[in-house]
Amino acid sequence: MRKPFIAGNWKMYKTVPEAVRLVKQLRVMLDDMEDVEVAVCPPFTALHAVGEALKGSGIKLGAQDVYWENEGAYTSQIAPPMLADLGVDYVIIGHSERRQYFGETDVTVNKKVKAALAHNLGVIVCVGETLEQRQAGETEDVVRIQVEQGLVGIEAPLEKLVIAYEPVWAIGTGHNATADDAETVISLIRRTLGVMFGRDQADATRIQYGGSVKPNNIQEFMARETIDGALVGGASLDASSFAQIVKYK
Ligand code: 13P
Repeated sequence: MRKPFIAGNWKMYKTVPEAVRLVKQLRVMLDDMEDVEVAVCPPFTALHAVGEALKGSGIKLGAQDVYWENEGAYTSQIAPPMLADLGVDYVIIGHSERRQYFGETDVTVNKKVKAALAHNLGVIVCVGETLEQRQAGETEDVVRIQVEQGLVGIEAPLEKLVIAYEPVWAIGTGHNATADDAETVISLIRRTLGVMFGRDQADATRIQYGGSVKPNNIQEFMARETIDGALVGGASLDASSFAQIVKYK
């Protein structure tokens, strides 16, 4: 069985004191969580402090990006061993904001995924179509190609791999996809994984939905057998709303 996985992507929010305050609140509120894996993904600047504040809590630590080289003259970049050294469990790769604003492509996503996996980091690979692509009927092709090219050359087992289906038009807009829409695309992603890695690997891989997930809609998504969790943006910045999402049952 795939264990549900709910992760908070804090994006470019929270100073160190704000981040520590948030995780201290979350620790109390999520003390009794069960049957769900939870991660928070603060900005790089807060990773160390949040990691310290999470110790012994069961809440996992995630980063929002990584570079593919181990070290070198790459001003501003963060290498996989640096994240591993901080005790980071997961790294988000290929978020649509990185694709939209920072030139991330399926080629760079693939390099990052391989580098992160080589350092035993869990990866959350984001895929999803824009509004124009959806309106042009291209959703399935776009997402299939993102999966195929983002994961080309990866070796099974895929136990460290999570995929997040995040339709771009649903991110930060308050217009979440319907559970039916999410299920359709997530099933396509699982079929694509099946072709690439075999049915067993595909069946074991967790696929999250992301895009305007809130306490009042999480249950709709989690009720679907195909949807294994959520990647939460805005609603993860407040302890009580994120805790309500984690405790969706
Ligand atoms: P929102 O939940 O704010 O729509 O953001 C989703 C997202 O991009 C998570 O990575």
